[in-house]
Amino acid sequence: MDSSARSSFTSRLGFVLAAAGSAVGLGNIWRFPYLAAKYGGGIFLLVYVVLALTFGFTLMTAEIAIGRKTGLSAVKAYEVLDRRFGFVGILSSLVPMIILPYYTVISGWVAKYFFTYLTGGGQQAVAEGYFKSFISSTWSPIFWFLLCLLATFAVVMMGVEKGVEKCSKLLMPFLVVLSVVIAIFSITRPGAWEGVLYYILPDPSRFSIMTVVAAMGQMFYSMSLAMGIMITYGSYMKKDTDLAHCVGQIEIFDTGIAFLAGLIIIPAVFAFSGGDADALNAGAGLMFITLPKVFGSMSMGGIVGAVFFLLVLFAAITSTISLMEAIVSIFLDRFHVSRPQACLAVLVICLVLGLPSSLGQGSWAAITFLGMNIQDFLDFISNSVMMPIAAFCTCIFVSRGVGVSAILEEVKHSSHFHREKLFVVMIRYIAPIFIIAVLVSSVLSALNIVVI
Ligand code: PHE
Repeated sequence: MDSSARSSFTSRLGFVLAAAGSAVGLGNIWRFPYLAAKYGGGIFLLVYVVLALTFGFTLMTAEIAIGRKTGLSAVKAYEVLDRRFGFVGILSSLVPMIILPYYTVISGWVAKYFFTYLTGGGQQAVAEGYFKSFISSTWSPIFWFLLCLLATFAVVMMGVEKGVEKCSKLLMPFLVVLSVVIAIFSITRPGAWEGVLYYILPDPSRFSIMTVVAAMGQMFYSMSLAMGIMITYGSYMKKDTDLAHCVGQIEIFDTGIAFLAGLIIIPAVFAFSGGDADALNAGAGLMFITLPKVFGSMSMGGIVGAVFFLLVLFAAITSTISLMEAIVSIFLDRFHVSRPQACLAVLVICLVLGLPSSLGQGSWAAITFLGMNIQDFLDFISNSVMMPIAAFCTCIFVSRGVGVSAILEEVKHSSHFHREKLFVVMIRYIAPIFIIAVLVSSVLSALNIVVI
């Protein structure tokens, strides 16, 4: 197959930063801290790290290797390696198409908060009902959604090297520095230390099956696995780039930023509320509702809020870029269109799914599926159903389709593979069984069938 015309990342650093830019996103900063707060603090953190180092590592290695081996995006890569598994490529290619529109809507909310803080309106965000009334209004969220969508579009139009790689190289170091600074600020607030302990020290009595289920779902989402993204990025990786080393660095990046985000948010919530259960269980509202209250109670809260939401916005945009890039590369491989044509097609998909997802918070709230509004439903279908199925099929594909040895050969082509044994055991036996268990429990819990 001819992959010579395909663009590629110019260096290992470029690859790692772009892949980490994809992985580090709203999942790390918005989703991880509220799950950690809710599912037991330190014990959740521990379970998460173990899963990332085992499952996350295994699937990420497999996906990048599949991408680099074929030089193709998911939609073709599976099919080329084993015809019977072509459907996995199609399935995992659909996931980013479903995620990108609503993910961009949420990125728009972040942009709005950043703008509010920047223009000195942080105190408005503290008012009761501010968040709800913003997301349920019609035009304002759509405006911010379109802005984020167009920014992403502009970067992806520029291509892999000039757009995706340059942008990630610029934004990612910023993101690390900002997170460290805000985390230090947060843990030195009076009363915050108790929150640090809650977050860091595992307390076995807080462990439940839901800790594992939540951590597992979060891990896939956070590492951008099972949706063809790492396959696409792998296809842009040069043959002599040390693959195993890159995986290690992306893992550290992704888990490190999630850890820091927890260190920013959980101690701040403790400092503000003394760690009462309501505040810790705020769920999705933790970042948009609880955190502004925390900022509101600080003397420099306006500035900290602006910097914080800027950080979240960077993380979100590098992820929307990767989602769009993955879809564009699917269109390029499948339909042999030009990059601008592919970008335009993706723009249309985003509008068709994104606008209803934004309106579903307000004027279209009456439209529900399985009791969920449009956005929650898109999130559920992609993250809780399609992603585990794609991940499971990828494991089977590696062990029964292309063969573990072919993947190992691809990895070892450029790397010394220290964790080879772990990889083999995980991909053959442990990962598929666990993934099915997670799939079943998340579907049952969405259908409100309580088994545990
Ligand atoms: N991994 C990203 C995050 O943590 C989310 C994402 C999902 C990005 C899918 C790209 C693709 O927010």
